[in-house]
Amino acid sequence: MDSDRIFLVGLSGSGKSTVARLIADELGWEAVDTDDLIAAVAGKPVERIFAEEGEADFRRREVRVLEKTSQGHQIVVATGGGAPLTADGRAAIGSGFVVWLQVAPETAASRLLANPGSETRPLLQGGDPRTRLEAMLETRGPLYRQLASCTIPADRAAPAEVADEVIRCWRAATGGTSGGPPAAVVRTPTATYPVIVRESALAELGDVCRQADLTGRAFVITDDRVADLWAGQAVRALEQAQFSAPVVTIPSGEEHKNLATLERVYDQLLEARVERSDFAVCLGGGVVTDLAGFAAATCLRGIPFVHVPTTLLGMVDAAIGGKLAVDHPRGKNMIGVFAQPRAVVIDPLVLATLPERQVHAGCAELIKHGLILDERLVEDLEAARGPAAATSADLIARSVAIKAAIVSEDERESARRTLLNYGHTVGHAIEAVTSYRTYLHGEAVAIGMQAAARISVEMGLLEEPGFERQAALLQAFGLPLAAPGLEPEAVLNATLGDKKVRDGKVRWVLLEKIGRAAVHDDVPDALARRAVEAITA
Ligand SMILES: NC(=O)c1ccc[n+]([C@@H]2O[C@H](COP(=O)([O-])OP(=O)(O)OC[C@H]3O[C@@H](n4cnc5c(N)ncnc54)[C@H](O)[C@@H]3O)[C@@H](O)[C@H]2O)c1
Ligand SMILES: [Zn+2]
Repeated sequence: MDSDRIFLVGLSGSGKSTVARLIADELGWEAVDTDDLIAAVAGKPVERIFAEEGEADFRRREVRVLEKTSQGHQIVVATGGGAPLTADGRAAIGSGFVVWLQVAPETAASRLLANPGSETRPLLQGGDPRTRLEAMLETRGPLYRQLASCTIPADRAAPAEVADEVIRCWRAATGGTSGGPPAAVVRTPTATYPVIVRESALAELGDVCRQADLTGRAFVITDDRVADLWAGQAVRALEQAQFSAPVVTIPSGEEHKNLATLERVYDQLLEARVERSDFAVCLGGGVVTDLAGFAAATCLRGIPFVHVPTTLLGMVDAAIGGKLAVDHPRGKNMIGVFAQPRAVVIDPLVLATLPERQVHAGCAELIKHGLILDERLVEDLEAARGPAAATSADLIARSVAIKAAIVSEDERESARRTLLNYGHTVGHAIEAVTSYRTYLHGEAVAIGMQAAARISVEMGLLEEPGFERQAALLQAFGLPLAAPGLEPEAVLNATLGDKKVRDGKVRWVLLEKIGRAAVHDDVPDALARRAVEAITA
């Protein structure tokens, strides 16, 4: 990767050209738009190249232009939406620092429709632009994600803000003050924050907190297991950045994720005379990030906090998205708030001490991200052959980028966020009927994904080989495919208690293929029953 070359990738309508110009202005570099360059070389607009020569010839021209730019210095390149489709295109783009400007297809469509004459977008001709863009995102999104060192949501932000973020990431990547760029940026209506994923990131914790403008004392809230293993390193990193870092410990385990523990955390914070100018570092699995984040978000009406997840489940799921909660005797996660951390710091090396069964369970969510949105991630997981390889920074980062993008699109429960519930309708039901004792969450989700995939097949959405492929993948990651011995009736009843029920109908997330999911509320009862019978037999 050359440090004085930035490539922007993403759908048409994500603002690449505008952002490239703004970055070039700021850095005193040259901005290049590959579509413009192709048109200039060909002496005709891109639209005509497509019409007269076809897409394959266009791509050949595009590769030549990309290869030229990959020799350039001090340039920011706005690439065409389809540029990463060819291996040569990807190789050329990979010669620089790559950032994905991520927008939802509906945003891209409305921008393109509002600005129809501005550019030629041949691939958008014919058909409803939003549908076309959705299809494009499905095939291209995984390529963008794979190429990019950093994913930045560009839906809600002004181009100047996006340009600033790209520059910040690039500076971090090229020997700036920290150890590198964030893997993803989360942007919600209330907050924008980096998610850092790399080996030894724990050692950067103090610097990351400084960069996030945090001040005062860093209250490290953790559980008693993680305290013995990793709190020392976290405290050292914070102290190196001149933070005083008192440690607050809670007992490990879901049974302690309750109001009583929360109160003990408040007690300790208040006894230490915590101030609004202090902050919390939530160091641990999902139990800790949920509970400690909630404590921080509510103590003194809210102090800032940073999440440092130490389980795979925490890294790819619980620590991203701003959902915080504790359990109530009447149900899990019943008491909580939405509040976003200032940063999320993920160090895959801490997984070395995580029990194997917990690693496997975390893999279920990582695999889920691939199954619902990213076939390429599924392929790479298949090639990884097992959990050890799946805990690489690269695969975690790509899974994180998926969750980060979805929560950036909409902070609260709706549309695309619902897809993250794939496998969870039956998964939650299995957890409930076994009183959360028999299966880890990820294991229950794996079984739930098998039930959902079976329904998908019977509804004629998914082909049988897709079902088999999912099963093989889950199995390769040490996950169960069934919960033999459970009462199907009880599991079915429990699905009705799930949050995804609306108007008495269960909203199932089903697979249409590996890498594509959709919500269906028209699953016949008999079909759901058969699927649940199959996984409980
Ligand atoms: N907020 C969200 O969006 C969200 C999403 C998914 C799950 N969750 C919540 O996350 C919780 C489950 O999280 P979890 O699976 O991480 O469980 P957990 O936090 O209980 O951690 C599992 C066990 O591993 C130990 N541990 C953690 N890190 C370790 C390490 N590096 N080495 C050795 N041991 C380690 C913990 O002490 C614990 O005993 C549930 O309460 C669930 O509701 C929240
Ligand atoms: Zn889950």
